[in-house]
Amino acid sequence: MLKRFGMTLPGQVYAGEGAMEAAAEIVRKEHVKKIALFTDKGVRNAGVLDELNRILERENIMCQVFDQIPSEPDYHQVQEVADSFCREPCELIVGAGGGSVMDTAKLVSVLAGERHRVEELLEDSSLAKKAVPTLMIPTTAGTGAEATCNSIVAVPEKKLKVGIVSPELMADYVILDASVLNNLPFRIAANTGMDALCHALECYISNKANPFSDTFALAALEMIFSNIEKACRGGMEEKKQMLIAAFYGGVAITASGTTAVHALSYPLGGKYHIPHGEANAMLLVPVMRMNEEACRRKLAVVYDRALSDGETQRSEKEKSEAVIRKLEELAKTLEIPASLNRYGITRGDVEDLVKAGMDVKRLLDNNPKTVTEEDARSIYLGLIDR
Ligand SMILES: NC(=O)c1ccc[n+]([C@@H]2O[C@H](COP(=O)([O-])OP(=O)(O)OC[C@H]3O[C@@H](n4cnc5c(N)ncnc54)[C@H](O)[C@@H]3O)[C@@H](O)[C@H]2O)c1
Ligand SMILES: [Zn+2]
Repeated sequence: MLKRFGMTLPGQVYAGEGAMEAAAEIVRKEHVKKIALFTDKGVRNAGVLDELNRILERENIMCQVFDQIPSEPDYHQVQEVADSFCREPCELIVGAGGGSVMDTAKLVSVLAGERHRVEELLEDSSLAKKAVPTLMIPTTAGTGAEATCNSIVAVPEKKLKVGIVSPELMADYVILDASVLNNLPFRIAANTGMDALCHALECYISNKANPFSDTFALAALEMIFSNIEKACRGGMEEKKQMLIAAFYGGVAITASGTTAVHALSYPLGGKYHIPHGEANAMLLVPVMRMNEEACRRKLAVVYDRALSDGETQRSEKEKSEAVIRKLEELAKTLEIPASLNRYGITRGDVEDLVKAGMDVKRLLDNNPKTVTEEDARSIYLGLIDR
């Protein structure tokens, strides 16, 4: 008998050619006169918002722009953004950017009403209550934050990143328009594409996996393995596939949950500011090697679904090894750094990393193999001096 499971989805999702035009439909439907547009400088300078701005202008919508959202913000920075939003309240919150922008926009939507502070939500996420409807437009492919009930903030005091999880954070509207990915640089595409891969694979092997998450995770894996390399090198058709796959990865997170890759990456982001996707990409192979025996059958399914060359004679072990080899190959072709030393991390830092990583129980509990301190230590040490 399956344990109880369920899933939450965004209210309405628009995708495909010209999907951005749905922004007009949304502002009319919500009777909006003024929106708050959350974004960042990188997104703005890449020309990503030009089309959206044209549509909003045509619809006579006033636009309060918050374009100072920092990459992977800490909770104090999110609070500052929320405070300035509350001085200029608007009727719709639009988050157009990567996970950093979308997570901030989602949090502001639940901070604006009761004026709770972020630290209160870190203590008790049930206080979150959405005050303003939200539209998410992902511009990396990506975190899938447009499809999750999570917002991740850095907590400097803990040297960790922490997820605030509440159904109130789910987007009301999502626009998946791949034209926003036109000028996405290789390095960012590679990091965020590997993050989407981690979401799908981790949710599939997670202890919380269920038929809903499996459906989205396997579809995402199939799309990501076939498209990630060409998408990172600029292929537009492949980018379209990656945008959908990243969304599926987000749906899989909401229905299931990530595991030890994300748990052990939180201190790398929280203390050393390694970009989220890059930290996960570095950890993926060693964590999957640790997990291989515990999830061999599932990795064999991933192989059959996403990587098989039609050869039916292989054993489960051969198939699961082939999946891990593919992950290794991808890390090389996408030029994922092999060593933590480039971030100034040395062997002397490992005990603090182990301690912080082992604290991310919310995600470690999902891992198919129980992760011991010794496991975490050997994974971090394996990424140093190589
Ligand atoms: N809420 C969730 O479910 C969830 C899931 C995974 C990750 N996250 C969080 O998301 C954050 C990471 O987000 P991210 O990986 O998308 O990166 P990001 O949002 O930090 O953006 C990285 C860089 O890419 C630039 N950029 C974004 N889109 C661009 C485009 N189309 N063209 C050119 N440049 C562009 C930005 O300006 C920025 O400099 C982390 O804080 C992570 O913890 C959240
Ligand atoms: Zn992630």
